Amino acid sequence: MSVLRTKPIKDVIAQGEADGEDGGLGLKRRLGARDLTGFGIGIVIGTGIFTLTGIEARDSAGPGVVISFAIAGVVALLAALCYAELASSVPTAGSAYTYAYATMGEIVAWIIGWDLLLEFALGAAVVARGWSGYLAELLGLPTAWFGEEGSIVNVGAIAVVLLLGVVAIVGIRESARVTNLLVLVKVAICVFIVVAGLFFVKAANLTPFIPPAEPAGAGDDGIKQPVTQALFGLEPSVFGFVGVLSAAAVVFFAYTGFEAVANLGEETRRPKRDLTLGLLGTLLISTVLYIGVSLVVVGMVPYTEIDRGAPIASAFNAVGAEWAGILVSIAAVAGLTSVILVDLVAMGRIGFAISRDGLIPPSVAKVHPRWGTPYRISAVMTVAVALLAGFLPLSALADLVSIGALCAFVLVSVAVPILRRKRPDLERPFRVPFSPVLPIVSALACFYLMLNLSVETWIRFLIWMVLGGLIYFGYGYRRNRLARKEGPPVNA
Ligand code: ALA
Repeated sequence: MSVLRTKPIKDVIAQGEADGEDGGLGLKRRLGARDLTGFGIGIVIGTGIFTLTGIEARDSAGPGVVISFAIAGVVALLAALCYAELASSVPTAGSAYTYAYATMGEIVAWIIGWDLLLEFALGAAVVARGWSGYLAELLGLPTAWFGEEGSIVNVGAIAVVLLLGVVAIVGIRESARVTNLLVLVKVAICVFIVVAGLFFVKAANLTPFIPPAEPAGAGDDGIKQPVTQALFGLEPSVFGFVGVLSAAAVVFFAYTGFEAVANLGEETRRPKRDLTLGLLGTLLISTVLYIGVSLVVVGMVPYTEIDRGAPIASAFNAVGAEWAGILVSIAAVAGLTSVILVDLVAMGRIGFAISRDGLIPPSVAKVHPRWGTPYRISAVMTVAVALLAGFLPLSALADLVSIGALCAFVLVSVAVPILRRKRPDLERPFRVPFSPVLPIVSALACFYLMLNLSVETWIRFLIWMVLGGLIYFGYGYRRNRLARKEGPPVNA
Protein backbone atom coordinates (compact mmCIF):
# COMPACT_ATOMS: atom_id res chain seq x y z
CA MET A 1 0.00 0.00 0.00
CA SER A 2 2.64 2.52 -0.95
CA VAL A 3 0.01 5.19 -1.60
CA LEU A 4 -0.27 5.28 2.21
CA ARG A 5 3.47 5.72 2.85
CA THR A 6 4.19 8.56 5.29
CA LYS A 7 6.97 11.06 5.46
CA PRO A 8 8.92 10.99 8.77
CA ILE A 9 8.28 14.04 10.97
CA LYS A 10 12.02 14.49 11.48
CA ASP A 11 12.41 15.04 7.73
CA VAL A 12 9.60 17.59 7.73
CA ILE A 13 11.16 19.47 10.62
CA ALA A 14 14.64 19.28 9.08
CA GLN A 15 13.30 20.82 5.89
CA GLY A 16 11.43 23.48 7.83
CA GLU A 17 14.47 24.42 9.87
CA ALA A 18 16.72 24.73 6.83
CA ASP A 19 18.14 28.21 6.80
CA GLY A 20 18.29 28.66 3.07
CA GLU A 21 21.01 31.32 2.95
CA ASP A 22 22.58 29.37 0.09
CA GLY A 23 19.64 30.02 -2.17
CA GLY A 24 18.72 26.34 -2.27
CA LEU A 25 15.38 24.96 -1.23
CA GLY A 26 14.96 26.81 2.07
CA LEU A 27 12.65 29.80 2.44
CA LYS A 28 13.79 32.72 4.60
CA ARG A 29 12.55 33.53 8.12
CA ARG A 30 11.36 37.10 8.01
CA LEU A 31 7.92 37.26 9.66
CA GLY A 32 6.56 37.90 13.19
CA ALA A 33 3.16 37.40 14.88
CA ARG A 34 1.85 40.78 13.70
CA ASP A 35 2.75 40.04 10.09
CA LEU A 36 1.03 36.66 10.33
CA THR A 37 -2.16 38.17 11.75
CA GLY A 38 -1.95 40.80 8.99
CA PHE A 39 -1.70 38.08 6.35
CA GLY A 40 -4.55 36.18 7.99
CA ILE A 41 -6.93 39.14 8.11
CA GLY A 42 -5.63 40.11 4.68
CA ILE A 43 -6.94 36.93 3.13
CA VAL A 44 -10.01 36.40 5.29
CA ILE A 45 -11.95 39.67 5.18
CA GLY A 46 -13.13 40.12 1.60
CA THR A 47 -16.06 39.34 -0.68
CA GLY A 48 -17.72 37.22 2.01
CA ILE A 49 -18.72 40.06 4.33
CA PHE A 50 -19.06 42.67 1.57
CA THR A 51 -21.58 40.70 -0.52
CA LEU A 52 -22.81 37.46 1.05
CA THR A 53 -24.32 39.24 4.07
CA GLY A 54 -27.00 40.81 1.89
CA ILE A 55 -27.85 37.72 -0.14
CA GLU A 56 -28.12 35.43 2.86
CA ALA A 57 -30.09 37.89 5.03
CA ARG A 58 -32.55 38.51 2.25
CA ASP A 59 -32.97 34.99 0.90
CA SER A 60 -32.19 32.59 3.69
CA ALA A 61 -31.82 33.80 7.27
CA GLY A 62 -33.18 37.35 7.81
CA PRO A 63 -31.49 39.13 10.75
CA GLY A 64 -30.54 35.59 11.86
CA VAL A 65 -27.61 35.91 9.43
CA VAL A 66 -25.76 37.29 12.48
CA ILE A 67 -26.19 33.85 14.09
CA SER A 68 -25.02 32.25 10.82
CA PHE A 69 -21.82 34.29 10.99
CA ALA A 70 -21.38 33.27 14.64
CA ILE A 71 -21.91 29.55 13.87
CA ALA A 72 -19.53 29.64 10.88
CA GLY A 73 -17.02 31.52 13.08
CA VAL A 74 -17.18 28.84 15.79
CA VAL A 75 -16.65 26.05 13.21
CA ALA A 76 -13.73 27.97 11.71
CA LEU A 77 -12.31 28.52 15.21
CA LEU A 78 -12.45 24.78 15.97
CA ALA A 79 -10.53 24.08 12.77
CA ALA A 80 -8.09 26.88 13.59
CA LEU A 81 -7.33 25.30 16.99
CA CYS A 82 -6.44 22.05 15.18
CA TYR A 83 -4.34 23.97 12.68
CA ALA A 84 -2.58 25.78 15.53
CA GLU A 85 -1.48 22.52 17.20
CA LEU A 86 -0.13 21.06 13.97
CA ALA A 87 1.39 24.28 12.67
CA SER A 88 3.21 25.06 15.92
CA SER A 89 4.60 21.55 16.33
CA VAL A 90 5.44 20.98 12.64
CA PRO A 91 6.01 24.42 11.07
CA THR A 92 6.19 23.92 7.31
CA ALA A 93 5.32 25.65 4.04
CA GLY A 94 2.98 22.82 3.05
CA SER A 95 0.65 23.13 6.10
CA ALA A 96 -2.27 20.68 5.84
CA TYR A 97 -0.65 18.90 2.91
CA THR A 98 2.48 18.16 4.93
CA TYR A 99 0.60 17.25 8.16
CA ALA A 100 -1.31 14.67 6.14
CA TYR A 101 1.89 13.37 4.57
CA ALA A 102 3.29 12.77 8.05
CA THR A 103 0.15 11.18 9.47
CA MET A 104 -2.34 9.74 7.00
CA GLY A 105 -0.17 8.89 4.01
CA GLU A 106 0.86 10.13 0.63
CA ILE A 107 -2.42 9.86 -1.23
CA VAL A 108 -4.32 11.79 1.45
CA ALA A 109 -1.56 14.40 1.38
CA TRP A 110 -1.84 14.70 -2.39
CA ILE A 111 -5.63 15.04 -2.14
CA ILE A 112 -5.27 17.88 0.39
CA GLY A 113 -2.48 19.59 -1.56
CA TRP A 114 -4.44 19.42 -4.80
CA ASP A 115 -7.54 20.61 -2.98
CA LEU A 116 -5.73 23.58 -1.39
CA LEU A 117 -4.29 24.60 -4.77
CA LEU A 118 -7.90 24.71 -5.99
CA GLU A 119 -8.98 26.79 -3.01
CA PHE A 120 -6.25 29.40 -3.31
CA ALA A 121 -5.99 29.58 -7.10
CA LEU A 122 -9.72 29.79 -7.60
CA GLY A 123 -10.05 32.11 -4.60
CA ALA A 124 -7.57 34.53 -6.18
CA ALA A 125 -9.33 34.34 -9.56
CA VAL A 126 -12.86 34.79 -8.18
CA VAL A 127 -11.84 37.70 -5.98
CA ALA A 128 -9.86 39.33 -8.84
CA ARG A 129 -13.05 39.50 -10.88
CA GLY A 130 -14.91 40.97 -7.92
CA TRP A 131 -12.09 43.50 -7.44
CA SER A 132 -12.32 44.54 -11.07
CA GLY A 133 -16.08 45.06 -10.75
CA TYR A 134 -15.75 47.21 -7.60
CA LEU A 135 -13.03 49.33 -9.21
CA ALA A 136 -15.22 49.84 -12.27
CA GLU A 137 -18.03 51.03 -10.02
CA LEU A 138 -15.79 53.37 -8.03
CA LEU A 139 -14.11 54.94 -11.09
CA GLY A 140 -16.88 54.51 -13.69
CA LEU A 141 -14.83 52.15 -15.91
CA PRO A 142 -16.43 50.14 -18.80
CA THR A 143 -17.93 46.84 -17.58
CA ALA A 144 -16.98 45.10 -20.87
CA TRP A 145 -13.34 45.16 -19.68
CA PHE A 146 -13.80 45.31 -15.93
CA GLY A 147 -17.12 43.70 -15.07
CA GLU A 148 -19.26 40.67 -15.83
CA GLU A 149 -21.76 42.31 -18.19
CA GLY A 150 -20.83 41.56 -21.86
CA SER A 151 -17.24 40.85 -20.87
CA ILE A 152 -15.00 38.74 -23.13
CA VAL A 153 -11.66 39.47 -21.47
CA ASN A 154 -11.57 40.98 -18.00
CA VAL A 155 -8.42 43.08 -18.29
CA GLY A 156 -8.86 44.51 -14.79
CA ALA A 157 -8.73 41.04 -13.24
CA ILE A 158 -5.73 40.00 -15.34
CA ALA A 159 -3.84 43.18 -14.49
CA VAL A 160 -4.41 42.96 -10.74
CA VAL A 161 -3.38 39.29 -10.61
CA LEU A 162 -0.17 39.92 -12.59
CA LEU A 163 0.71 42.98 -10.53
CA LEU A 164 0.15 41.27 -7.19
CA GLY A 165 1.89 38.14 -8.53
CA VAL A 166 5.02 40.28 -8.98
CA VAL A 167 4.72 41.59 -5.38
CA ALA A 168 4.31 38.01 -4.10
CA ILE A 169 7.39 36.87 -6.02
CA VAL A 170 9.64 39.82 -5.22
CA GLY A 171 9.49 39.10 -1.52
CA ILE A 172 7.60 37.95 1.51
CA ARG A 173 8.58 41.13 3.38
CA GLU A 174 7.26 43.30 0.56
CA SER A 175 4.07 41.22 0.50
CA ALA A 176 3.76 41.63 4.27
CA ARG A 177 4.18 45.41 4.02
CA VAL A 178 1.57 45.81 1.29
CA THR A 179 -0.80 43.46 3.11
CA ASN A 180 -0.44 45.23 6.46
CA LEU A 181 -1.29 48.56 4.88
CA LEU A 182 -4.36 47.20 3.08
CA VAL A 183 -5.47 45.41 6.24
CA LEU A 184 -5.25 48.60 8.29
CA VAL A 185 -7.54 50.34 5.79
CA LYS A 186 -10.13 47.59 5.74
CA VAL A 187 -10.17 46.91 9.48
CA ALA A 188 -10.45 50.64 10.22
CA ILE A 189 -13.39 50.94 7.83
CA CYS A 190 -15.10 47.82 9.25
CA VAL A 191 -14.82 49.30 12.76
CA PHE A 192 -16.17 52.55 11.39
CA ILE A 193 -19.13 50.71 9.77
CA VAL A 194 -20.02 49.14 13.11
CA VAL A 195 -19.69 52.34 15.15
CA ALA A 196 -21.44 54.62 12.64
CA GLY A 197 -24.05 51.99 11.80
CA LEU A 198 -25.05 51.53 15.45
CA PHE A 199 -26.58 55.03 15.42
CA PHE A 200 -29.01 53.95 12.70
CA VAL A 201 -30.03 50.54 14.06
CA LYS A 202 -33.77 50.20 14.71
CA ALA A 203 -35.04 47.46 17.03
CA ALA A 204 -38.04 46.95 14.72
CA ASN A 205 -35.72 45.74 11.94
CA LEU A 206 -34.39 43.03 14.22
CA THR A 207 -37.74 41.45 15.08
CA PRO A 208 -38.38 38.65 14.43
CA PHE A 209 -34.69 37.85 14.62
CA ILE A 210 -35.22 34.49 12.89
CA PRO A 211 -38.16 34.80 10.47
CA PRO A 212 -40.43 31.70 10.43
CA ALA A 213 -39.55 28.95 7.91
CA GLU A 214 -41.25 29.00 4.50
CA PRO A 215 -41.02 26.80 1.38
CA ALA A 216 -38.18 27.70 -0.99
CA GLY A 217 -39.00 29.33 -4.31
CA ALA A 218 -38.42 27.74 -7.71
CA GLY A 219 -34.79 27.24 -8.76
CA ASP A 220 -33.70 25.86 -5.39
CA ASP A 221 -34.11 22.25 -6.47
CA GLY A 222 -32.15 19.83 -8.71
CA ILE A 223 -28.40 20.25 -8.67
CA LYS A 224 -28.71 23.67 -7.06
CA GLN A 225 -30.09 22.28 -3.79
CA PRO A 226 -27.89 21.42 -0.79
CA VAL A 227 -26.69 17.82 -0.67
CA THR A 228 -28.46 17.32 2.71
CA GLN A 229 -31.86 18.11 1.17
CA ALA A 230 -31.15 15.98 -1.93
CA LEU A 231 -29.97 13.01 0.17
CA PHE A 232 -32.83 13.01 2.64
CA GLY A 233 -35.49 14.13 0.18
CA LEU A 234 -36.38 17.13 2.40
CA GLU A 235 -38.82 19.77 1.25
CA PRO A 236 -36.55 22.73 0.28
CA SER A 237 -37.24 25.57 2.71
CA VAL A 238 -35.80 28.94 3.64
CA PHE A 239 -35.68 30.98 6.87
CA GLY A 240 -36.32 29.38 10.25
CA PHE A 241 -33.39 27.71 11.98
CA VAL A 242 -32.76 25.56 8.88
CA GLY A 243 -32.30 28.75 6.89
CA VAL A 244 -29.83 30.06 9.49
CA LEU A 245 -27.83 26.82 9.21
CA SER A 246 -27.71 26.78 5.43
CA ALA A 247 -26.68 30.45 5.47
CA ALA A 248 -23.89 29.44 7.88
CA ALA A 249 -22.52 27.04 5.22
CA VAL A 250 -22.55 29.81 2.61
CA VAL A 251 -21.08 32.56 4.79
CA PHE A 252 -18.36 30.12 5.86
CA PHE A 253 -16.74 31.37 2.67
CA ALA A 254 -16.09 34.62 4.55
CA TYR A 255 -13.77 32.79 6.98
CA THR A 256 -11.88 30.71 4.44
CA GLY A 257 -8.25 31.52 3.92
CA PHE A 258 -7.08 31.86 7.55
CA GLU A 259 -5.22 28.59 7.13
CA ALA A 260 -2.83 30.35 4.72
CA VAL A 261 -1.09 31.59 7.89
CA ALA A 262 0.05 28.01 8.51
CA ASN A 263 1.77 27.98 5.11
CA LEU A 264 4.20 30.61 6.37
CA GLY A 265 5.70 28.27 8.99
CA GLU A 266 9.09 28.25 7.28
CA GLU A 267 9.19 32.01 6.95
CA THR A 268 8.32 32.84 10.57
CA ARG A 269 11.06 33.82 12.98
CA ARG A 270 9.48 32.16 16.03
CA PRO A 271 7.04 29.70 14.46
CA LYS A 272 6.20 27.77 17.62
CA ARG A 273 4.67 30.82 19.28
CA ASP A 274 3.72 33.07 16.41
CA LEU A 275 1.79 30.61 14.23
CA THR A 276 -0.70 29.99 17.05
CA LEU A 277 -1.05 33.72 17.70
CA GLY A 278 -1.46 34.42 13.98
CA LEU A 279 -4.10 31.75 13.38
CA LEU A 280 -6.23 32.38 16.45
CA GLY A 281 -5.78 36.18 16.32
CA THR A 282 -6.97 36.26 12.71
CA LEU A 283 -10.10 34.30 13.47
CA LEU A 284 -11.06 36.11 16.66
CA ILE A 285 -10.70 39.54 15.03
CA SER A 286 -12.60 38.47 11.89
CA THR A 287 -15.42 36.84 13.86
CA VAL A 288 -15.96 39.93 16.03
CA LEU A 289 -15.92 42.24 12.99
CA TYR A 290 -18.27 39.99 10.99
CA ILE A 291 -20.81 39.75 13.80
CA GLY A 292 -20.66 43.53 14.32
CA VAL A 293 -20.93 44.41 10.62
CA SER A 294 -23.74 41.94 9.88
CA LEU A 295 -25.66 43.11 12.97
CA VAL A 296 -25.62 46.77 11.96
CA VAL A 297 -26.53 45.95 8.35
CA VAL A 298 -29.65 43.98 9.30
CA GLY A 299 -30.40 46.53 12.03
CA MET A 300 -30.32 49.48 9.62
CA VAL A 301 -32.62 48.11 6.91
CA PRO A 302 -35.56 45.64 7.08
CA TYR A 303 -34.11 42.35 5.79
CA THR A 304 -36.68 42.22 2.99
CA GLU A 305 -35.19 45.42 1.55
CA ILE A 306 -31.47 44.64 1.88
CA ASP A 307 -29.50 45.02 -1.34
CA ARG A 308 -28.08 41.74 -2.65
CA GLY A 309 -25.08 43.27 -4.52
CA ALA A 310 -23.73 45.93 -2.18
CA PRO A 311 -25.56 45.45 1.14
CA ILE A 312 -23.36 47.63 3.35
CA ALA A 313 -23.06 50.66 1.08
CA SER A 314 -26.77 50.62 0.27
CA ALA A 315 -27.72 50.27 3.95
CA PHE A 316 -25.93 53.59 4.57
CA ASN A 317 -27.59 55.08 1.49
CA ALA A 318 -30.97 53.95 2.80
CA VAL A 319 -30.49 55.93 6.02
CA GLY A 320 -29.25 58.99 4.10
CA ALA A 321 -25.50 58.63 4.77
CA GLU A 322 -24.29 58.35 1.14
CA TRP A 323 -20.75 59.49 2.00
CA ALA A 324 -20.30 56.27 3.99
CA GLY A 325 -21.02 54.23 0.84
CA ILE A 326 -17.86 55.62 -0.81
CA LEU A 327 -15.76 54.67 2.22
CA VAL A 328 -17.19 51.16 2.08
CA SER A 329 -16.26 50.81 -1.61
CA ILE A 330 -12.68 51.91 -0.83
CA ALA A 331 -12.56 49.29 1.95
CA ALA A 332 -13.84 46.67 -0.47
CA VAL A 333 -11.17 47.42 -3.08
CA ALA A 334 -8.42 47.44 -0.40
CA GLY A 335 -9.87 44.31 1.18
CA LEU A 336 -10.10 42.37 -2.04
CA THR A 337 -6.57 43.40 -3.08
CA SER A 338 -5.09 41.81 0.03
CA VAL A 339 -7.20 38.65 -0.39
CA ILE A 340 -5.74 38.17 -3.88
CA LEU A 341 -2.19 38.88 -2.71
CA VAL A 342 -2.26 36.41 0.19
CA ASP A 343 -4.00 33.79 -1.99
CA LEU A 344 -1.11 34.08 -4.45
CA VAL A 345 1.52 33.88 -1.68
CA ALA A 346 -0.12 30.80 -0.10
CA MET A 347 -0.65 29.08 -3.43
CA GLY A 348 3.07 29.38 -4.21
CA ARG A 349 4.00 27.87 -0.81
CA ILE A 350 1.79 24.82 -1.27
CA GLY A 351 3.05 24.27 -4.82
CA PHE A 352 6.59 24.65 -3.41
CA ALA A 353 6.02 21.99 -0.72
CA ILE A 354 4.45 19.53 -3.16
CA SER A 355 7.19 19.94 -5.74
CA ARG A 356 9.95 19.77 -3.08
CA ASP A 357 8.62 16.30 -2.28
CA GLY A 358 8.71 15.40 -5.96
CA LEU A 359 4.98 14.85 -6.42
CA ILE A 360 5.26 17.40 -9.22
CA PRO A 361 8.63 18.08 -10.92
CA PRO A 362 11.11 19.28 -8.24
CA SER A 363 12.85 21.81 -10.49
CA VAL A 364 9.90 24.18 -10.10
CA ALA A 365 10.49 24.42 -6.31
CA LYS A 366 13.67 26.47 -6.63
CA VAL A 367 13.86 29.46 -4.31
CA HIS A 368 15.22 32.72 -5.72
CA PRO A 369 18.62 33.51 -4.15
CA ARG A 370 17.83 37.15 -3.44
CA TRP A 371 14.05 37.31 -3.09
CA GLY A 372 13.87 34.17 -0.98
CA THR A 373 10.59 33.06 -2.57
CA PRO A 374 9.67 30.03 -4.70
CA TYR A 375 9.65 32.19 -7.82
CA ARG A 376 9.24 29.57 -10.53
CA ILE A 377 6.13 27.89 -9.21
CA SER A 378 4.65 31.24 -8.14
CA ALA A 379 5.19 32.69 -11.63
CA VAL A 380 3.64 29.72 -13.44
CA MET A 381 0.64 29.65 -11.14
CA THR A 382 0.17 33.43 -11.24
CA VAL A 383 -0.11 33.28 -15.02
CA ALA A 384 -2.60 30.40 -14.76
CA VAL A 385 -4.72 32.36 -12.26
CA ALA A 386 -4.56 35.49 -14.45
CA LEU A 387 -5.88 33.49 -17.42
CA LEU A 388 -8.66 31.95 -15.34
CA ALA A 389 -9.63 35.35 -13.95
CA GLY A 390 -9.50 36.97 -17.37
CA PHE A 391 -11.60 34.51 -19.31
CA LEU A 392 -13.95 32.61 -17.00
CA PRO A 393 -17.01 34.08 -15.29
CA LEU A 394 -16.04 32.50 -12.03
CA SER A 395 -18.74 33.73 -9.67
CA ALA A 396 -20.52 30.37 -9.90
CA LEU A 397 -17.34 28.64 -8.79
CA ALA A 398 -16.95 30.54 -5.50
CA ASP A 399 -18.55 27.68 -3.54
CA LEU A 400 -15.70 25.48 -4.75
CA VAL A 401 -13.39 27.61 -2.61
CA SER A 402 -15.47 26.77 0.47
CA ILE A 403 -15.72 23.06 -0.26
CA GLY A 404 -11.95 22.95 -0.86
CA ALA A 405 -11.27 24.64 2.48
CA LEU A 406 -13.79 22.52 4.40
CA CYS A 407 -12.39 19.28 2.99
CA ALA A 408 -8.89 20.29 4.13
CA PHE A 409 -10.27 21.24 7.59
CA VAL A 410 -11.88 17.81 8.02
CA LEU A 411 -8.57 16.09 7.30
CA VAL A 412 -6.52 18.50 9.44
CA SER A 413 -8.85 17.90 12.39
CA VAL A 414 -8.50 14.14 12.00
CA ALA A 415 -4.71 14.51 11.76
CA VAL A 416 -4.47 15.96 15.31
CA PRO A 417 -5.37 12.78 17.28
CA ILE A 418 -3.50 10.61 14.75
CA LEU A 419 -0.29 12.58 15.22
CA ARG A 420 -0.74 12.50 19.01
CA ARG A 421 -0.89 8.72 18.86
CA LYS A 422 1.96 8.34 16.38
CA ARG A 423 4.30 10.88 17.95
CA PRO A 424 3.29 11.45 21.60
CA ASP A 425 6.83 12.70 22.28
CA LEU A 426 6.68 15.59 19.79
CA GLU A 427 7.00 19.04 21.40
CA ARG A 428 3.61 20.72 21.12
CA PRO A 429 3.81 24.43 21.97
CA PHE A 430 0.02 24.62 21.55
CA ARG A 431 -2.32 21.75 22.39
CA VAL A 432 -5.96 21.54 21.33
CA PRO A 433 -8.01 21.26 24.53
CA PHE A 434 -10.22 18.16 25.01
CA SER A 435 -8.56 16.13 22.24
CA PRO A 436 -9.78 13.87 20.64
CA VAL A 437 -13.33 15.20 21.30
CA LEU A 438 -12.74 18.71 19.98
CA PRO A 439 -10.95 17.61 16.77
CA ILE A 440 -13.73 15.07 16.08
CA VAL A 441 -16.43 17.71 16.64
CA SER A 442 -14.46 20.02 14.35
CA ALA A 443 -14.25 17.37 11.59
CA LEU A 444 -17.97 16.58 11.86
CA ALA A 445 -18.98 20.25 11.87
CA CYS A 446 -16.89 20.96 8.77
CA PHE A 447 -18.29 17.88 7.03
CA TYR A 448 -21.82 18.94 7.92
CA LEU A 449 -21.20 22.35 6.34
CA MET A 450 -19.83 20.59 3.23
CA LEU A 451 -23.11 18.68 3.00
CA ASN A 452 -24.98 21.98 3.03
CA LEU A 453 -23.30 23.02 -0.22
CA SER A 454 -25.01 22.29 -3.53
CA VAL A 455 -24.97 19.06 -5.52
CA GLU A 456 -23.49 21.10 -8.40
CA THR A 457 -20.52 22.17 -6.23
CA TRP A 458 -19.89 18.56 -5.19
CA ILE A 459 -19.87 17.41 -8.82
CA ARG A 460 -17.30 20.09 -9.80
CA PHE A 461 -15.22 19.24 -6.75
CA LEU A 462 -15.18 15.54 -7.65
CA ILE A 463 -14.14 16.34 -11.24
CA TRP A 464 -11.18 18.35 -9.92
CA MET A 465 -10.24 15.45 -7.63
CA VAL A 466 -10.35 12.91 -10.49
CA LEU A 467 -8.03 15.18 -12.48
CA GLY A 468 -5.69 15.25 -9.47
CA GLY A 469 -5.85 11.44 -9.28
CA LEU A 470 -4.71 11.18 -12.88
CA ILE A 471 -1.72 13.43 -12.21
CA TYR A 472 -0.81 11.53 -9.05
CA PHE A 473 -0.90 8.08 -10.63
CA GLY A 474 0.58 9.36 -13.90
CA TYR A 475 3.56 11.13 -12.30
CA GLY A 476 3.84 11.68 -8.54
CA TYR A 477 3.22 8.12 -7.37
CA ARG A 478 6.42 6.80 -8.99
CA ARG A 479 8.57 9.92 -9.22
CA ASN A 480 8.38 11.43 -5.72
CA ARG A 481 11.22 11.35 -3.20
CA LEU A 482 9.76 8.69 -0.93
CA ALA A 483 9.10 6.42 -3.93
CA ARG A 484 12.69 6.83 -5.05
CA LYS A 485 13.86 6.39 -1.44
CA GLU A 486 15.73 9.68 -1.44
CA GLY A 487 16.39 11.56 1.76
CA PRO A 488 14.85 14.95 2.49
CA PRO A 489 16.10 17.79 0.31
CA VAL A 490 17.59 19.82 3.16
CA ASN A 491 19.02 22.69 1.19
CA ALA A 492 20.08 20.20 -1.40
N1 ALA B 1 -12.62 34.81 3.00
C1 ALA B 1 -12.36 35.46 1.78
C2 ALA B 1 -13.45 36.39 1.41
O1 ALA B 1 -14.43 36.51 2.10
C3 ALA B 1 -12.12 34.47 0.67
O2 ALA B 1 -13.32 37.04 0.41
